[in-house]
Formats: sequence, structure tokens, C-alpha cells
Amino acid sequence: MTRPAATLLKLDAAAAHRDCFVRLQNVDKVYAGRGGGLKAVDNVSLDLHDGEFLAIVGPSGCGKSTLMMMVAGLSPVSAGEITIRAQNVTGPYTDVGVVFQRDALLEWRTVLDNVLLQIDVRRLRRADYEKAAYTLLERVGLAGFEKSYPWELSGGMRQRVSLCRALIHNPSLLLMDEPFGALDALTREQMNLDLQKIWIDTRKTMLFITHSIWEAIFLADHVIVMTPRPGRIAAVIKIDLPRPRRLAVRETAQFGHYAAMVREQFQAFGLLKES
Ligand SMILES: Nc1ncnc2c1ncn2[C@@H]1O[C@H](COP(=O)(O)OP(=O)(O)OP(=O)(O)O)[C@@H](O)[C@H]1O
Ligand SMILES: [Mg+2]
Repeated sequence: MTRPAATLLKLDAAAAHRDCFVRLQNVDKVYAGRGGGLKAVDNVSLDLHDGEFLAIVGPSGCGKSTLMMMVAGLSPVSAGEITIRAQNVTGPYTDVGVVFQRDALLEWRTVLDNVLLQIDVRRLRRADYEKAAYTLLERVGLAGFEKSYPWELSGGMRQRVSLCRALIHNPSLLLMDEPFGALDALTREQMNLDLQKIWIDTRKTMLFITHSIWEAIFLADHVIVMTPRPGRIAAVIKIDLPRPRRLAVRETAQFGHYAAMVREQFQAFGLLKES
């Protein structure tokens, strides 16, 4: 068997930082709470470049959502620094779309009105965005559901609406927190294919959080593996698979090699015990 072109990179502070869109430098997060603080994120440094698809995979509770909330400017860092386009993140950043772990659709708004939520909140002209909303909904297979309410939709359809909502203002950066975690396996595969297509077509810079080893490898340019809490970066794995990737890529030796690299990291933390 030829050796797959896998690289396990240790993140290096001296690595090339050019074209850096989002940069985290020595970021910590400590939540104040009962019995002292709880350290959720420990000394995380990473660079996200323009048009890159970065996936973060890590065990439950290791600080992935916390990390994403800090990048979005929705939660302050306790130490270190986050910059976007060289500007310090000190509050909510607007050129970003966020898909949260729970879909957070507003049940009393129609699908169309949910997609246009940010437009209304930001007091932009609805008429300028309605066509884009219809186009996005059509693109994710929801044409004809514009006037439906979230409670009339399946879980997969709801997450499609969330994706459209995150994309409506055409942000350069998309943050997705375990967006497909609650979906059945088949729907999840379809969502992965759809997301890959959207990403290939738009080349948004992507920070994608997941528990799923295969989802991370299938979608990303780089997979970051985090340790159990407090979350630190254990490894950065470069995924050298041509796009568009087909589902069958998972059955290739190269994919298996990447999956083994991630799994070995988890096993080194004492997770995924097989006996
Ligand atoms: N607002 C908060 N206040 C206090 N502690 C918090 C808060 N949010 C998260 N935590 C704690 O920080 C740690 C990391 O939580 P976080 O939600 O970031 O993990 P996660 O990696 O996203 O987990 P999961 O994969 O289960 O979604 C957990 O121990 C959690 O209890
Ligand atoms: Mg989370």
C-alpha cells in the first residue's frame, strides 16, 4: 500500500501568518462559577486563512462551543487575543454567519422571516434581501416552504433554514457549531454533501465544529483535534483529498489513515477504550 499523504502538524507560532483572516493567540477561557473558576479553553492558538475550511473535533465539554462564541465576539476571552482581519474582537462581529448547536429558529416567524431575521434586526431593507432568501432556500431544497413555520419542518429542514439565515447577508466567515449533530445519519450525509457544494461555490472561510471524525475529514482542509477540558489543541491534520469529495471517499485507504490519526489522538487521551 502506498503511504497516504497525511501530515500531522504541530501548530507552530512561527508558521506563516500571511492572508490570515481569523487569528487566535494564546486564548484562554475561564468561566467564573461555584467553587472557583472553570477553565474551558487553555492556550489555544490557531490561524484561519481566507477561504479555508477548518474543522474542530473534540470530546464533549472540551470547549468547542466556547471557542466559537469567542470568535463570534459573543463571549469575551479570559486571556490571549482574537483578531479578525487584524482587528481585535471586542464585541459581536457582523461579517459573520453563525449556525448554533441548537437551531434557534423563532417558532412564530415563517421560514422566510427566519431567514431574514438578521436583516430585520439590523434594520436593513427587506426588499434588498428577499430575492436572495428565496434563492438560498431553493438551493437547499426548501422552495415552496417559505411560508411554513419551523414547527412544520423536520430537523434536517430546520437546519437548512438555519444555514440560509447564516448566509443571508453574504458573510465572509461562517461559524458552524455541530450543526448536523441531531440529524439522522442519512440526512446528515446529504447535509454534508450540500454544505460541501455551497462551500466550493462560495469559498466562505469556515470554522466548523463537530464530534464526528468522518464529518470533519470529509469536509475540511485542516482538522484540529482538541483535548478533553480544558480544551487545548492536540493536533492539526492536513487533509489532502481532492474536491468535490464523494461519500465513497470514506472507504479509501487515505481517508482511513486520517481517521486513524484522529482516533489515535482520542485514544491517547484515554477516550475510545476498546476493551
Ligand atoms: N456559560 C457558561 N458558564 C459556565 N460554564 C460554561 C458555560 N458554557 C460552557 N461552560 C462550561 O465550559 C465547558 C466547555 O463547554 P462547551 O459548551 O464549550 O463544550 P463543547 O466542547 O461545545 O461541548 P459539546 O461537544 O457537548 O457541545 C463545559 O464544562 C461547560 O460546562
Ligand atoms: Mg458545544
